[in-house]
Amino acid sequence: MSNHLNFDYSYLEAEEKAKVAISLSGTYWITTFGCQMNKADSERMAGILESIGYQIAPSEHEADLVLYNTCTIRDSAEQKVYSYLGRQAQRKRTNPHIILIVAGCVAQQEGASLLRRVPEIDLVMGPQQTNRLSYLLSQVENGQQVIATEESYILEDITNARRESSVCGWVNVVYGCNERCTYCVVPSVRGKEQSRLPESIKMEMEILATQGFREVTLLGQNVDAYGRDLAGISPEGRRHNTLTALLYFVHEVKGINRIRFATSHPRYFTERLIEACSNLSKVCEHFHIPCQSGDDEVLKTMARGYNVDRYYRIVDRIRSRMPDASISADIIVAFPGETDTQYQRTLELVEKVGFDQVNTAAYSPRPNTPASNWSIQVDERIKVERLQQLNSLVEKKAFERSKRYLNRIEEILIEGLNPKDSNQFMGRTRSNRLTFFPTHTSKGKSYTYGDLVMVKIKEIRAFSLTGTLL
Ligand code: SAH
Ligand code: SF4
Ligand code: F3S
Repeated sequence: MSNHLNFDYSYLEAEEKAKVAISLSGTYWITTFGCQMNKADSERMAGILESIGYQIAPSEHEADLVLYNTCTIRDSAEQKVYSYLGRQAQRKRTNPHIILIVAGCVAQQEGASLLRRVPEIDLVMGPQQTNRLSYLLSQVENGQQVIATEESYILEDITNARRESSVCGWVNVVYGCNERCTYCVVPSVRGKEQSRLPESIKMEMEILATQGFREVTLLGQNVDAYGRDLAGISPEGRRHNTLTALLYFVHEVKGINRIRFATSHPRYFTERLIEACSNLSKVCEHFHIPCQSGDDEVLKTMARGYNVDRYYRIVDRIRSRMPDASISADIIVAFPGETDTQYQRTLELVEKVGFDQVNTAAYSPRPNTPASNWSIQVDERIKVERLQQLNSLVEKKAFERSKRYLNRIEEILIEGLNPKDSNQFMGRTRSNRLTFFPTHTSKGKSYTYGDLVMVKIKEIRAFSLTGTLL
Protein backbone atom coordinates (compact mmCIF):
# COMPACT_ATOMS: atom_id res chain seq x y z
CA MET A 1 0.00 0.00 0.00
CA SER A 2 1.22 3.51 -0.65
CA ASN A 3 -0.03 6.97 0.18
CA HIS A 4 0.82 10.53 -0.58
CA LEU A 5 2.95 11.06 2.50
CA ASN A 6 5.11 8.03 1.85
CA PHE A 7 4.51 6.49 5.23
CA ASP A 8 4.91 2.76 5.23
CA TYR A 9 1.57 1.58 6.42
CA SER A 10 1.89 -2.05 5.49
CA TYR A 11 1.38 -2.79 9.19
CA LEU A 12 -2.29 -2.01 8.60
CA GLU A 13 -2.68 -5.10 6.48
CA ALA A 14 -1.16 -7.16 9.26
CA GLU A 15 -3.55 -5.50 11.67
CA GLU A 16 -6.54 -6.42 9.59
CA LYS A 17 -5.43 -10.05 9.62
CA ALA A 18 -4.71 -10.06 13.29
CA LYS A 19 -7.91 -8.29 14.30
CA VAL A 20 -9.82 -10.48 16.67
CA ALA A 21 -13.50 -10.16 17.33
CA ILE A 22 -13.55 -7.84 20.28
CA SER A 23 -15.62 -9.13 23.11
CA LEU A 24 -14.82 -6.41 25.58
CA SER A 25 -17.89 -4.68 26.87
CA GLY A 26 -19.06 -2.64 29.75
CA THR A 27 -19.14 1.07 30.36
CA TYR A 28 -16.68 3.77 29.35
CA TRP A 29 -15.78 7.29 30.36
CA ILE A 30 -13.67 9.75 28.40
CA THR A 31 -12.24 12.92 29.90
CA THR A 32 -10.85 15.35 27.37
CA PHE A 33 -8.13 17.87 28.16
CA GLY A 34 -6.95 20.34 25.55
CA CYS A 35 -8.03 21.87 22.29
CA GLN A 36 -10.78 21.31 19.73
CA MET A 37 -8.59 18.79 17.93
CA ASN A 38 -8.59 16.65 21.07
CA LYS A 39 -12.33 17.08 21.47
CA ALA A 40 -12.87 15.90 17.91
CA ASP A 41 -10.56 12.91 18.53
CA SER A 42 -12.49 12.04 21.70
CA GLU A 43 -15.76 12.05 19.79
CA ARG A 44 -14.32 9.58 17.30
CA MET A 45 -12.93 7.35 20.05
CA ALA A 46 -16.31 7.38 21.82
CA GLY A 47 -17.87 6.32 18.49
CA ILE A 48 -15.40 3.44 18.19
CA LEU A 49 -16.05 2.28 21.76
CA GLU A 50 -19.81 2.29 21.19
CA SER A 51 -19.40 0.40 17.92
CA ILE A 52 -17.73 -2.46 19.80
CA GLY A 53 -20.37 -2.63 22.51
CA TYR A 54 -19.39 -0.14 25.20
CA GLN A 55 -21.97 2.14 26.75
CA ILE A 56 -21.33 5.44 28.41
CA ALA A 57 -20.90 5.16 32.20
CA PRO A 58 -22.97 7.21 34.65
CA SER A 59 -19.71 8.62 36.06
CA GLU A 60 -15.95 8.35 35.74
CA HIS A 61 -15.73 6.43 39.01
CA GLU A 62 -18.10 3.71 37.89
CA ALA A 63 -16.64 3.15 34.41
CA ASP A 64 -15.06 -0.17 33.33
CA LEU A 65 -12.90 1.69 30.86
CA VAL A 66 -11.46 5.13 31.54
CA LEU A 67 -9.78 7.06 28.76
CA TYR A 68 -7.94 10.32 29.32
CA ASN A 69 -7.38 12.26 26.12
CA THR A 70 -4.55 14.47 27.26
CA CYS A 71 -2.97 17.85 26.51
CA THR A 72 0.58 19.04 27.14
CA ILE A 73 0.51 22.54 25.72
CA ARG A 74 1.52 23.92 29.14
CA ASP A 75 2.94 22.27 32.21
CA SER A 76 -0.31 22.82 34.16
CA ALA A 77 -2.25 20.80 31.56
CA GLU A 78 0.24 17.95 31.81
CA GLN A 79 0.25 17.91 35.62
CA LYS A 80 -3.54 17.76 35.73
CA VAL A 81 -3.39 14.46 33.85
CA TYR A 82 -1.09 12.91 36.45
CA SER A 83 -3.41 13.83 39.27
CA TYR A 84 -6.40 12.29 37.44
CA LEU A 85 -4.31 9.21 36.68
CA GLY A 86 -3.33 8.85 40.32
CA ARG A 87 -6.98 8.52 41.30
CA GLN A 88 -7.74 5.93 38.65
CA ALA A 89 -4.62 3.93 39.47
CA GLN A 90 -5.78 3.73 43.05
CA ARG A 91 -9.23 2.59 41.94
CA LYS A 92 -7.67 -0.06 39.75
CA ARG A 93 -5.77 -1.57 42.65
CA THR A 94 -9.09 -2.72 44.13
CA ASN A 95 -10.79 -3.26 40.74
CA PRO A 96 -8.17 -4.87 38.50
CA HIS A 97 -10.64 -5.39 35.62
CA ILE A 98 -10.71 -1.63 34.88
CA ILE A 99 -9.05 -0.64 31.61
CA LEU A 100 -7.03 2.57 31.84
CA ILE A 101 -6.07 4.38 28.63
CA VAL A 102 -3.98 7.51 28.12
CA ALA A 103 -4.43 9.01 24.67
CA GLY A 104 -3.48 12.34 23.11
CA CYS A 105 -0.51 14.63 23.46
CA VAL A 106 0.90 13.62 26.87
CA ALA A 107 0.76 10.00 25.68
CA GLN A 108 2.77 10.92 22.59
CA GLN A 109 5.26 13.01 24.53
CA GLU A 110 5.89 10.56 27.36
CA GLY A 111 5.35 7.16 25.68
CA ALA A 112 6.83 4.31 27.70
CA SER A 113 7.80 6.54 30.60
CA LEU A 114 4.09 6.91 31.40
CA LEU A 115 3.95 3.18 32.08
CA ARG A 116 6.91 3.45 34.40
CA ARG A 117 5.25 6.30 36.23
CA VAL A 118 1.78 4.71 36.39
CA PRO A 119 2.13 0.93 35.88
CA GLU A 120 -1.67 0.50 36.06
CA ILE A 121 -2.07 2.00 32.56
CA ASP A 122 -3.11 -0.55 29.90
CA LEU A 123 -2.73 1.53 26.77
CA VAL A 124 -0.71 4.61 25.83
CA MET A 125 -1.72 5.95 22.42
CA GLY A 126 -0.70 9.09 20.55
CA PRO A 127 -3.11 11.34 18.63
CA GLN A 128 -2.24 9.73 15.31
CA GLN A 129 -3.54 6.38 16.62
CA THR A 130 -7.08 7.62 17.30
CA ASN A 131 -8.78 5.56 14.61
CA ARG A 132 -6.90 2.39 15.63
CA LEU A 133 -8.48 2.26 19.08
CA SER A 134 -10.43 -0.98 18.60
CA TYR A 135 -7.36 -2.83 17.30
CA LEU A 136 -5.23 -1.54 20.17
CA LEU A 137 -7.92 -2.63 22.63
CA SER A 138 -7.89 -6.12 21.18
CA GLN A 139 -4.20 -6.28 22.07
CA VAL A 140 -5.01 -5.14 25.60
CA GLU A 141 -7.58 -7.92 25.75
CA ASN A 142 -4.79 -10.37 24.97
CA GLY A 143 -3.20 -9.28 28.21
CA GLN A 144 -0.62 -6.84 26.87
CA GLN A 145 0.32 -3.38 28.02
CA VAL A 146 0.39 -1.46 24.77
CA ILE A 147 2.31 1.62 23.67
CA ALA A 148 1.27 3.06 20.31
CA THR A 149 3.15 6.23 19.57
CA GLU A 150 4.74 5.60 16.19
CA GLU A 151 4.32 8.32 13.62
CA SER A 152 1.78 7.11 11.13
CA TYR A 153 -0.34 8.02 8.21
CA ILE A 154 -3.65 9.08 9.70
CA LEU A 155 -6.32 6.70 8.59
CA GLU A 156 -9.23 8.25 6.80
CA ASP A 157 -11.96 8.71 9.34
CA ILE A 158 -14.49 6.03 8.59
CA THR A 159 -15.78 5.78 12.12
CA ASN A 160 -19.04 7.21 13.28
CA ALA A 161 -18.15 9.78 15.87
CA ARG A 162 -20.33 10.06 18.95
CA ARG A 163 -20.70 13.81 18.86
CA GLU A 164 -21.46 15.87 21.90
CA SER A 165 -23.63 18.36 20.04
CA SER A 166 -26.45 17.43 17.67
CA VAL A 167 -26.23 20.78 15.88
CA CYS A 168 -22.58 21.81 15.54
CA GLY A 169 -19.99 19.33 14.28
CA TRP A 170 -16.18 19.40 14.13
CA VAL A 171 -14.64 18.25 10.88
CA ASN A 172 -10.87 17.74 10.78
CA VAL A 173 -9.36 19.00 7.58
CA VAL A 174 -5.65 19.02 8.37
CA TYR A 175 -3.80 17.15 11.10
CA GLY A 176 -0.40 18.07 12.54
CA CYS A 177 1.76 21.18 12.18
CA ASN A 178 4.78 21.99 10.03
CA GLU A 179 5.74 25.17 11.92
CA ARG A 180 8.52 25.35 14.47
CA CYS A 181 7.44 27.98 16.99
CA THR A 182 10.19 27.91 19.58
CA TYR A 183 7.83 27.51 22.55
CA CYS A 184 5.49 24.85 21.22
CA VAL A 185 5.20 21.07 21.66
CA VAL A 186 2.49 20.56 19.05
CA PRO A 187 4.74 19.63 16.08
CA SER A 188 6.50 17.00 18.15
CA VAL A 189 3.29 15.44 19.47
CA ARG A 190 1.00 15.84 16.47
CA GLY A 191 3.48 15.17 13.68
CA LYS A 192 3.69 16.70 10.25
CA GLU A 193 0.79 18.19 8.33
CA GLN A 194 -1.59 15.72 6.74
CA SER A 195 -4.53 17.17 4.83
CA ARG A 196 -7.68 15.16 4.27
CA LEU A 197 -8.98 14.91 0.75
CA PRO A 198 -11.61 17.51 -0.18
CA GLU A 199 -14.02 14.78 -1.33
CA SER A 200 -13.99 13.05 2.04
CA ILE A 201 -14.34 16.34 3.93
CA LYS A 202 -17.36 17.14 1.82
CA MET A 203 -18.80 13.68 2.28
CA GLU A 204 -18.48 13.96 6.06
CA MET A 205 -20.31 17.28 5.91
CA GLU A 206 -23.07 15.75 3.78
CA ILE A 207 -23.52 12.97 6.31
CA LEU A 208 -23.65 15.53 9.12
CA ALA A 209 -26.32 17.48 7.24
CA THR A 210 -28.50 14.38 6.87
CA GLN A 211 -28.11 13.74 10.60
CA GLY A 212 -29.51 17.20 11.36
CA PHE A 213 -26.29 19.13 11.95
CA ARG A 214 -26.50 22.77 10.88
CA GLU A 215 -23.02 24.11 11.60
CA VAL A 216 -19.58 22.74 10.81
CA THR A 217 -16.22 23.95 12.10
CA LEU A 218 -13.32 22.92 9.88
CA LEU A 219 -10.39 22.10 12.14
CA GLY A 220 -6.63 22.27 11.84
CA GLN A 221 -3.73 23.53 13.99
CA ASN A 222 -3.13 25.91 11.10
CA VAL A 223 -6.29 25.39 9.12
CA ASP A 224 -5.38 28.07 6.58
CA ALA A 225 -2.30 26.01 5.62
CA TYR A 226 -4.70 23.27 4.43
CA GLY A 227 -3.87 21.39 1.27
CA ARG A 228 -0.15 22.05 0.79
CA ASP A 229 0.51 18.32 0.75
CA LEU A 230 -2.36 17.51 -1.62
CA ALA A 231 -1.13 18.61 -5.04
CA GLY A 232 -1.02 15.63 -7.35
CA ILE A 233 -3.12 13.32 -5.19
CA SER A 234 -6.48 13.33 -6.87
CA PRO A 235 -8.21 15.63 -9.36
CA GLU A 236 -10.27 17.17 -6.53
CA GLY A 237 -7.17 17.31 -4.33
CA ARG A 238 -5.38 19.32 -7.00
CA ARG A 239 -8.28 21.66 -7.58
CA HIS A 240 -9.07 22.31 -3.93
CA ASN A 241 -5.66 22.36 -2.31
CA THR A 242 -6.11 25.63 -0.40
CA LEU A 243 -8.54 26.51 2.38
CA THR A 244 -10.06 29.13 0.06
CA ALA A 245 -10.81 26.54 -2.63
CA LEU A 246 -12.05 24.07 -0.03
CA LEU A 247 -14.52 26.64 1.32
CA TYR A 248 -16.00 27.18 -2.15
CA PHE A 249 -16.13 23.40 -2.64
CA VAL A 250 -17.93 22.52 0.62
CA HIS A 251 -20.19 25.57 0.56
CA GLU A 252 -22.54 23.60 -1.72
CA VAL A 253 -23.43 21.08 0.98
CA LYS A 254 -27.18 21.41 1.47
CA GLY A 255 -28.51 21.59 5.02
CA ILE A 256 -25.35 23.03 6.54
CA ASN A 257 -26.17 26.69 7.26
CA ARG A 258 -23.01 27.84 8.96
CA ILE A 259 -19.35 27.12 8.31
CA ARG A 260 -16.50 28.15 10.60
CA PHE A 261 -12.82 27.29 10.60
CA ALA A 262 -10.06 27.36 13.23
CA THR A 263 -7.23 27.98 13.99
CA SER A 264 -5.76 30.40 11.46
CA HIS A 265 -2.06 31.22 11.33
CA PRO A 266 -1.35 34.85 10.30
CA ARG A 267 1.30 33.58 7.90
CA TYR A 268 -1.23 31.75 5.72
CA PHE A 269 -4.20 34.10 6.04
CA THR A 270 -4.52 35.41 2.49
CA GLU A 271 -6.45 38.20 0.83
CA ARG A 272 -8.20 35.55 -1.26
CA LEU A 273 -9.35 33.75 1.87
CA ILE A 274 -10.81 36.99 3.22
CA GLU A 275 -12.58 37.57 -0.10
CA ALA A 276 -14.00 34.03 -0.05
CA CYS A 277 -15.33 34.52 3.47
CA SER A 278 -17.11 37.71 2.50
CA ASN A 279 -18.53 36.14 -0.70
CA LEU A 280 -19.73 32.89 0.83
CA SER A 281 -22.91 33.43 2.80
CA LYS A 282 -22.52 30.37 5.04
CA VAL A 283 -19.03 31.28 6.24
CA CYS A 284 -19.47 33.08 9.55
CA GLU A 285 -17.77 36.39 10.23
CA HIS A 286 -15.54 35.19 13.02
CA PHE A 287 -11.81 34.68 12.70
CA HIS A 288 -9.55 33.12 15.29
CA ILE A 289 -6.06 34.30 14.38
CA PRO A 290 -3.50 34.00 17.17
CA CYS A 291 -1.02 36.89 17.22
CA GLN A 292 0.96 35.63 20.29
CA SER A 293 2.74 38.97 20.85
CA GLY A 294 2.58 42.62 19.82
CA ASP A 295 6.34 42.99 19.49
CA ASP A 296 8.37 42.24 16.35
CA GLU A 297 11.46 41.11 18.21
CA VAL A 298 9.48 38.67 20.35
CA LEU A 299 7.63 37.35 17.29
CA LYS A 300 10.99 36.76 15.69
CA THR A 301 12.40 34.80 18.62
CA MET A 302 9.13 32.84 18.69
CA ALA A 303 9.81 32.03 14.99
CA ARG A 304 6.27 33.02 14.03
CA GLY A 305 7.18 34.17 10.53
CA TYR A 306 5.26 37.48 10.49
CA ASN A 307 5.50 40.89 12.10
CA VAL A 308 2.99 43.06 13.89
CA ASP A 309 2.38 45.12 10.75
CA ARG A 310 1.26 42.09 8.85
CA TYR A 311 -1.14 41.25 11.66
CA TYR A 312 -2.66 44.76 11.54
CA ARG A 313 -2.99 44.48 7.76
CA ILE A 314 -4.95 41.23 8.09
CA VAL A 315 -7.29 42.81 10.64
CA ASP A 316 -7.78 45.88 8.41
CA ARG A 317 -8.53 43.78 5.36
CA ILE A 318 -11.05 41.66 7.23
CA ARG A 319 -12.77 44.73 8.61
CA SER A 320 -12.81 46.59 5.32
CA ARG A 321 -14.72 43.69 3.72
CA MET A 322 -16.70 42.58 6.77
CA PRO A 323 -17.00 45.58 9.09
CA ASP A 324 -18.81 43.64 11.80
CA ALA A 325 -16.49 40.63 11.82
CA SER A 326 -15.28 39.46 15.17
CA ILE A 327 -11.65 38.64 15.70
CA SER A 328 -10.16 36.52 18.44
CA ALA A 329 -6.61 35.43 19.19
CA ASP A 330 -4.18 33.60 21.45
CA ILE A 331 -1.49 35.56 23.27
CA ILE A 332 1.50 34.44 25.33
CA VAL A 333 2.99 36.78 27.93
CA ALA A 334 6.41 36.54 29.55
CA PHE A 335 8.04 34.67 26.69
CA PRO A 336 11.77 34.20 27.53
CA GLY A 337 13.49 37.56 27.29
CA GLU A 338 10.25 39.59 26.98
CA THR A 339 11.00 43.06 28.41
CA ASP A 340 8.43 45.31 29.96
CA THR A 341 8.48 47.53 26.84
CA GLN A 342 7.86 44.52 24.61
CA TYR A 343 5.02 43.39 26.83
CA GLN A 344 3.52 46.92 26.65
CA ARG A 345 3.42 46.54 22.86
CA THR A 346 1.23 43.47 23.29
CA LEU A 347 -1.16 45.54 25.41
CA GLU A 348 -1.09 48.19 22.70
CA LEU A 349 -2.03 45.61 20.07
CA VAL A 350 -4.94 44.40 22.19
CA GLU A 351 -6.04 47.99 22.75
CA LYS A 352 -5.87 48.88 19.06
CA VAL A 353 -7.36 45.74 17.52
CA GLY A 354 -10.17 45.45 20.04
CA PHE A 355 -10.43 41.68 20.11
CA ASP A 356 -13.77 40.03 20.78
CA GLN A 357 -12.02 37.32 22.77
CA VAL A 358 -8.42 36.32 23.56
CA ASN A 359 -7.06 33.08 25.02
CA THR A 360 -4.18 34.26 27.16
CA ALA A 361 -1.39 32.30 28.79
CA ALA A 362 1.87 32.88 30.58
CA TYR A 363 4.77 31.18 28.84
CA SER A 364 5.38 27.67 30.11
CA PRO A 365 8.64 25.85 29.24
CA ARG A 366 7.94 22.62 27.36
CA PRO A 367 10.11 19.53 26.83
CA ASN A 368 12.21 19.44 23.65
CA THR A 369 11.43 23.02 22.63
CA PRO A 370 14.23 25.55 22.01
CA ALA A 371 12.83 28.33 24.21
CA SER A 372 12.77 26.11 27.28
CA ASN A 373 16.58 26.00 27.25
CA TRP A 374 17.11 29.75 27.02
CA SER A 375 18.69 31.31 30.06
CA ILE A 376 16.55 34.45 30.01
CA GLN A 377 13.35 33.09 31.55
CA VAL A 378 10.96 35.67 33.02
CA ASP A 379 10.38 35.68 36.76
CA GLU A 380 7.23 33.85 37.97
CA ARG A 381 5.95 36.92 39.79
CA ILE A 382 6.18 39.03 36.63
CA LYS A 383 4.45 36.28 34.64
CA VAL A 384 1.46 36.40 36.98
CA GLU A 385 1.36 40.22 36.97
CA ARG A 386 1.47 40.46 33.19
CA LEU A 387 -1.16 37.78 32.71
CA GLN A 388 -3.57 39.41 35.18
CA GLN A 389 -3.14 42.83 33.63
CA LEU A 390 -3.62 41.47 30.12
CA ASN A 391 -6.71 39.53 31.18
CA SER A 392 -8.41 42.61 32.55
CA LEU A 393 -7.64 44.54 29.38
CA VAL A 394 -9.00 41.67 27.27
CA GLU A 395 -12.21 41.65 29.30
CA LYS A 396 -12.60 45.42 29.03
CA LYS A 397 -12.16 45.33 25.25
CA ALA A 398 -14.51 42.34 24.89
CA PHE A 399 -17.16 44.27 26.81
CA GLU A 400 -16.67 47.26 24.51
CA ARG A 401 -17.10 44.93 21.54
CA SER A 402 -20.26 43.44 23.08
CA LYS A 403 -21.85 46.92 23.19
CA ARG A 404 -22.43 46.88 19.46
CA TYR A 405 -25.01 44.14 19.89
CA LEU A 406 -27.26 46.02 22.29
CA ASN A 407 -30.80 46.33 20.85
CA ARG A 408 -29.66 44.68 17.65
CA ILE A 409 -31.46 41.74 16.05
CA GLU A 410 -29.10 38.79 15.66
CA GLU A 411 -29.46 35.46 13.89
CA ILE A 412 -28.85 32.70 16.45
CA LEU A 413 -28.46 28.98 15.82
CA ILE A 414 -30.06 27.15 18.76
CA GLU A 415 -27.48 24.70 20.10
CA GLY A 416 -29.11 23.55 23.32
CA LEU A 417 -30.36 24.74 26.69
CA ASN A 418 -28.55 27.17 28.94
CA PRO A 419 -26.82 24.76 31.38
CA LYS A 420 -27.62 27.19 34.21
CA ASP A 421 -31.27 27.83 33.31
CA SER A 422 -33.37 25.29 31.45
CA ASN A 423 -35.96 27.95 30.60
CA GLN A 424 -33.42 29.47 28.25
CA PHE A 425 -31.95 28.35 24.96
CA MET A 426 -28.27 28.75 24.23
CA GLY A 427 -26.78 29.55 20.85
CA ARG A 428 -24.30 31.80 19.13
CA THR A 429 -24.39 34.76 16.82
CA ARG A 430 -22.67 34.35 13.46
CA SER A 431 -19.80 36.25 15.04
CA ASN A 432 -19.56 33.56 17.75
CA ARG A 433 -20.96 35.45 20.79
CA LEU A 434 -22.70 33.08 23.16
CA THR A 435 -26.35 34.15 23.46
CA PHE A 436 -29.13 33.11 25.85
CA PHE A 437 -32.86 33.72 25.46
CA PRO A 438 -36.17 32.34 26.82
CA THR A 439 -37.32 29.16 25.10
CA HIS A 440 -40.76 30.55 24.23
CA THR A 441 -42.01 33.66 22.51
CA SER A 442 -44.89 35.63 24.02
CA LYS A 443 -47.05 34.23 21.19
CA GLY A 444 -46.25 30.71 22.39
CA LYS A 445 -44.42 29.65 19.20
CA SER A 446 -41.86 26.98 20.05
CA TYR A 447 -38.48 26.24 18.59
CA THR A 448 -35.99 23.45 18.91
CA TYR A 449 -32.27 22.66 18.62
CA GLY A 450 -30.89 23.37 15.16
CA ASP A 451 -33.37 26.17 14.39
CA LEU A 452 -32.08 29.52 13.21
CA VAL A 453 -33.99 32.24 15.02
CA MET A 454 -33.91 36.02 15.28
CA VAL A 455 -33.19 37.35 18.74
CA LYS A 456 -33.27 40.91 19.99
CA ILE A 457 -30.31 41.55 22.28
CA LYS A 458 -31.33 43.14 25.58
CA GLU A 459 -28.37 42.56 27.88
CA ILE A 460 -24.67 42.40 27.22
CA ARG A 461 -21.67 41.05 29.10
CA ALA A 462 -18.04 40.77 28.04
CA PHE A 463 -18.34 37.28 26.58
CA SER A 464 -22.09 36.62 26.32
CA LEU A 465 -25.44 38.20 25.52
CA THR A 466 -29.07 37.79 26.57
CA GLY A 467 -32.06 38.55 24.40
CA THR A 468 -35.64 37.74 23.51
CA LEU A 469 -36.99 35.73 20.59
CA LEU A 470 -38.75 37.69 17.90
N1 SAH B 1 -1.52 26.53 15.84
C1 SAH B 1 -2.07 27.60 16.55
C2 SAH B 1 -2.13 27.43 18.04
C3 SAH B 1 -2.01 26.10 18.68
S1 SAH B 1 -1.56 25.93 20.35
C4 SAH B 1 -1.22 28.84 16.24
O1 SAH B 1 -0.10 28.73 15.90
O2 SAH B 1 -1.70 29.93 16.41
C5 SAH B 1 -2.71 26.95 21.19
C6 SAH B 1 -2.09 28.09 21.92
O3 SAH B 1 -1.41 27.67 23.06
C7 SAH B 1 -1.08 28.88 21.15
O4 SAH B 1 -1.67 29.76 20.26
C8 SAH B 1 -0.30 29.57 22.23
O5 SAH B 1 -0.86 30.83 22.53
C9 SAH B 1 -0.47 28.65 23.43
N2 SAH B 1 0.81 28.01 23.76
C10 SAH B 1 1.49 27.12 23.01
N3 SAH B 1 2.64 26.77 23.62
C11 SAH B 1 2.70 27.46 24.78
C12 SAH B 1 3.64 27.53 25.85
N4 SAH B 1 4.77 26.83 25.82
N5 SAH B 1 3.37 28.34 26.89
C13 SAH B 1 2.22 29.07 26.91
N6 SAH B 1 1.31 29.04 25.95
C14 SAH B 1 1.52 28.25 24.88
FE1 SF4 C 1 2.46 25.39 17.83
FE2 SF4 C 1 3.33 27.23 16.19
FE3 SF4 C 1 2.35 24.94 15.22
FE4 SF4 C 1 0.74 26.74 16.33
S1 SF4 C 1 1.95 27.02 14.49
S2 SF4 C 1 0.74 24.54 16.70
S3 SF4 C 1 1.96 27.57 17.96
S4 SF4 C 1 4.22 25.21 16.42
FE1 F3S D 1 -3.04 20.36 23.79
FE2 F3S D 1 -2.35 18.63 21.99
FE3 F3S D 1 -4.23 20.40 21.48
S1 F3S D 1 -1.00 19.68 23.35
S2 F3S D 1 -3.66 22.14 22.70
S3 F3S D 1 -4.34 18.81 22.98
S4 F3S D 1 -2.71 19.65 20.07
